Amino acid sequence: MDDPYAQSAEYIDLLIADAWGLFAPGLSEALHGLGDEPGVTVDLGAGTGRGVAVICASLPDSSPVLAVEPSPALRAVLLARAHEDASLRSRVTVSPADAMSVPMPEQVRVLVAMNMIGHLSPDDRRELWQRVAPRLVRGGRVVVNLAPPARPVAIPRTRMASRTVGGLTYEGWASAEAVGEHQIRWHMTYLTRSPEGAAVAEVAVNYDWWVMDEGELRAEFAEHGLTMRQIGHPDAGLYVASHVQG
Ligand SMILES: C[S@@+](CC[C@H](N)C(=O)[O-])C[C@H]1O[C@@H](n2cnc3c(N)ncnc32)[C@H](O)[C@@H]1O
Repeated sequence: MDDPYAQSAEYIDLLIADAWGLFAPGLSEALHGLGDEPGVTVDLGAGTGRGVAVICASLPDSSPVLAVEPSPALRAVLLARAHEDASLRSRVTVSPADAMSVPMPEQVRVLVAMNMIGHLSPDDRRELWQRVAPRLVRGGRVVVNLAPPARPVAIPRTRMASRTVGGLTYEGWASAEAVGEHQIRWHMTYLTRSPEGAAVAEVAVNYDWWVMDEGELRAEFAEHGLTMRQIGHPDAGLYVASHVQG
């Protein structure tokens, strides 16, 4: 696999922390009121495990969580996070597969796909919904967010996030260009700065990202009998989809 996170992994957990301040309450709300049907909660593209921690805190019923993370470098952080906390260690299984190759559990309580759906092509997304929809337990859900932009447009270079740890500051900068009818190419630069502002390390990474808007996502879910609604803070772009209960 071509891993866009191989070079930038050390920056990802730090620089996504602020965004999780917005995502965590929304994800928690999306999991609220889940029935007690047995099944697995799958976190696709679990990254460094921030979503896994929210899932375990929001579902304090010891039900199993399958954290799927294809990037070895991010998986190392995920596994450390899962191992370090006894309440996660006993219920979180970390898989090195990806979204399309992971054997999907027969009973899925929730499928979570946070900040990752743009890595999947429209065909892969449809195949994924097709595999997941029939496996959702009664009351089961799909939780996904759409990160802007919703259309293939150029994004000028912007500082996305910054965090200081000890004597060094870590920054993530992003710009994007349209590369297709439904695709953009992110140009990411990650910098480590000294207190004086000098760059002591710099990594540049480019990767393609499939974009879509709320209406397109809604239509995809509807093809598989799933009804979608927005949840959480509007800026989180978070949606929850489920079968309409008969
Ligand atoms: C921006 S990170 C988000 C990580 C995490 N979900 C979060 O929100 O903190 C995107 C994640 O998707 C993963 N990813 C990329 N392609 C994938 C695929 N085909 N299947 C599953 N995960 C994938 C990456 O390795 C990375 O962990």
